[in-house]
Amino acid sequence: MQTHEIRKRFLDHFVKAGHTEVPSASVILDDPNLLFVNAGMVQFVPYFLGQQTPPWNRAVSVQKCIRTPDIDEVGITTRHNTFFQMAGNFSFGDYFKKGAIEFAWTLLTNPVDAGGYGFDPERLWATVYLDDDEAITLWQEVAGLPAERIQRRGMADNYWSMGIPGPCGPSSEIYYDRGPEYGVEGGPEANEDRYIEIWNLVFMQNERGEGTSKEDFEILGPLPRKNIDTGMGVERVACLLQGVDNVYETDLVRPVIDLVAGIAPRGYGQGSHTDDVRYRIIADHSRTSAIIIGDGVSPGNEGRGYVLRRLLRRIIRAAKLLGVEQPIMAELMTTVRDAMGPSYPELVTDFDRIQRIAVAEETAFNRTLASGSRLFDEAAGATKAKGATVLSGSDAFTLHDTYGFPIELTLEMAAEHGLTVDEEGFRGLMAEQRARAKADAAARKQAHSDLSAYRDLVDAGPTEFTGFDELSSEARILGIFVDGERVPVVSHDSGGPAPDRVELILDRTPFYAESGGQIADEGAISGAGTSSAAKAAVTDVQKIAKTLWAHRVRVESGEFVEGDTVVAAVDPRWRHGATQGHSGTHMVHAALREVLGPNAVQAGSLNRPGYLRFDFNWQGALSEDQRSQIEEVTNQAVEADYEVNTFTTQLEKAKAMGAMALFGEQYPDQVRVVEIGGPFSIELCGGTHVHNSAQIGPVTILGESSVGSGVRRVEAYVGLDSFRHLAKERALMAGLASTLKVPSEEVPARVANLVERLRSAEKELDRLRLANARAAAVNAVAGAELVGKVRLVAQRMAGGMSAGDLRTLVGDIRGKLGSDPAVVALIAEGDEDSVPFVVAVNAAAQDLGLRANDLVKTLGAAVNGRGGGKADLAQGSGKGAAGIDAALAALRAEIDRS
Ligand code: ALA
Repeated sequence: MQTHEIRKRFLDHFVKAGHTEVPSASVILDDPNLLFVNAGMVQFVPYFLGQQTPPWNRAVSVQKCIRTPDIDEVGITTRHNTFFQMAGNFSFGDYFKKGAIEFAWTLLTNPVDAGGYGFDPERLWATVYLDDDEAITLWQEVAGLPAERIQRRGMADNYWSMGIPGPCGPSSEIYYDRGPEYGVEGGPEANEDRYIEIWNLVFMQNERGEGTSKEDFEILGPLPRKNIDTGMGVERVACLLQGVDNVYETDLVRPVIDLVAGIAPRGYGQGSHTDDVRYRIIADHSRTSAIIIGDGVSPGNEGRGYVLRRLLRRIIRAAKLLGVEQPIMAELMTTVRDAMGPSYPELVTDFDRIQRIAVAEETAFNRTLASGSRLFDEAAGATKAKGATVLSGSDAFTLHDTYGFPIELTLEMAAEHGLTVDEEGFRGLMAEQRARAKADAAARKQAHSDLSAYRDLVDAGPTEFTGFDELSSEARILGIFVDGERVPVVSHDSGGPAPDRVELILDRTPFYAESGGQIADEGAISGAGTSSAAKAAVTDVQKIAKTLWAHRVRVESGEFVEGDTVVAAVDPRWRHGATQGHSGTHMVHAALREVLGPNAVQAGSLNRPGYLRFDFNWQGALSEDQRSQIEEVTNQAVEADYEVNTFTTQLEKAKAMGAMALFGEQYPDQVRVVEIGGPFSIELCGGTHVHNSAQIGPVTILGESSVGSGVRRVEAYVGLDSFRHLAKERALMAGLASTLKVPSEEVPARVANLVERLRSAEKELDRLRLANARAAAVNAVAGAELVGKVRLVAQRMAGGMSAGDLRTLVGDIRGKLGSDPAVVALIAEGDEDSVPFVVAVNAAAQDLGLRANDLVKTLGAAVNGRGGGKADLAQGSGKGAAGIDAALAALRAEIDRS
């Protein structure tokens, strides 16, 4: 049975039983603790916790899931996949254990021609949580499963939880017996290869708190209602129903392997485990990458972007190691689209973008690989030159960290050079880096990931945002929090808490909370009436659970008490700047698309008073011409003084008007549209804006840069800051003009002229220096002494000579000394206390056993320095001119002894 059919039967089965079909959520949900959605229930968590009321009692979905912690295991075992589809049915306070067991059992065991999967009931097993006697009875009564095929297991296997705090409960898993050829009998407790888990039924009934592991956490208490959350592994079921060994051989994955096998010199399943692993990596990662890009992630250096980059690079490396020379990404993405498109239409509609991003990363990485290979050659060369056979851990780490070389690649390349690698050193450095990354991630976690303290307020309803219409509003304090703990009162006295630890929650507020790239408003909250002495400066405003505005404040006087009436007032100048910044961002976005075309898709933005930055998908740098065109179009649109219209409408209508929606964002049905001189700019946006475009003031683009593969960034000043920036540049120019004593417009020609003159002066200087050196060489030859059988020129040179000068000179002198044994040693008082020296030994003197690289050591020892090189020429440098004479004497003595 094909995978699409398996999905369809699942959905049909549950829809028939009164479930509403809910589409898969994006793999990126707005949760700072979750890199990617990794289970079907994630999008329903607020319903389980009772934070939101579900629109239905029963739901069914097939969710795209990504799990990447075991990325290195992919392909090595056939169990790990970074992408899989979880089919699940959910009950929110409706049916419980009995219903869940009954629905699952009938779908699994109903014959194929009756809409089921047709599994042989004799081969199915179940596990239950240790003390869940109720589930055991139900399995026997509802499914007719004999007691010997039901096993009890502990928390690690049969207790599911998600998030802290989050829903949790005992679970019951269904296993399929693949038969004796897969291992010993004895049920899942004995062997999870033979007995393969296909479906997990979670009886979600409690809320979990903090804990140290999956097996050890606090149960905070029962959830408002008992729920069901199940997850059936679509890929696992596909393996069983298609009679294949593992997911790589199923209908949706195999095409990628076949594609690569048609290109690579060595095929799949030909006896090389290492090659097979590479094939599986490509197959698994291609699909995961397409899905992640489809949901709006671009390759980057942290978080999700980094995961994507790693996946794509592992594909490219695996292909190279299989002997594939040509670019392959475009075809991989096409194959994934063809296989997965019927279930995930976004892979088809958005294919061009997905393919473009993946191919761009391939092109960039191939360039990196080329430069990494150069670094490798140098490191390998240096290692061999030292007579060593082990490439250092730090070289391997740099190759990995800077050039993205997986360690296996470095190992293989080293082996080709007859070298090994200090893997332990490498792993040590990797562990240090991981520890740093972990500390970073922990520091980044937002304070609001723990919502429990705010739950009552979230439930009581949203904060009313008044800031589109007024800048000052009377409001009531609903709650006061210090360090996330609710308190009844907070005061300036009694050594009050540090500023960024106090939060005030109001029933209404004109303050804009940071979102959609616009940073939070600044202003003040003051007491009204009896508490009029209370005053606090607002330093930040963030939304909690998307509905509650939390004002972070610095209490400056008096005290705030829960229930008090206050006046919340945004600083009007701040807000004016913020509207300029945000409207300016829309203008730059529209101008970009006008100049570059519709492919310049927004990838992120940030704006604050006076400044904006805008990231967009684009390959390659913008030309100077494109940049000034964007600036010109923006400023013309500002000057056109377009009216700014904001209104609310249905998402579909807004899209039909051409409003641009951001990828990976979830929008509600009713959306706010901001239109500036439509059709010039129409965007879905909840931000605050100017009324007419002329209020934005001048927009100056500061620069354009790369922020990762295929993503560019423009930065601009707006309003008065823009003017100030231009004024500063003008002052700079005036200063230059006055220094150069020419009018401004002649500055460029004047500077060019100065540079030219400097260049010819330097050339002249070089010529003179060389002439001097030649003359010195002639003198030196004349001053040659005979030490034993060797003609020796050992001289202190005039100050200011560089090692390069000395080398030229030494060569000249040696040439003039003829073929009898000769040694030239020059040492100079160089710049800043340095003492460069160079020694040359001709062939005849080398026959006497003299080596330039030995002789420089003698010189070095006397002047506090070191040197090295080859037998015929060596150089070095020391510190302290006082030792020069002693150095030359030591050299003479050494030659004398030879
Ligand atoms: N949430 C459960 C799981 O992911 C069904 O296994």
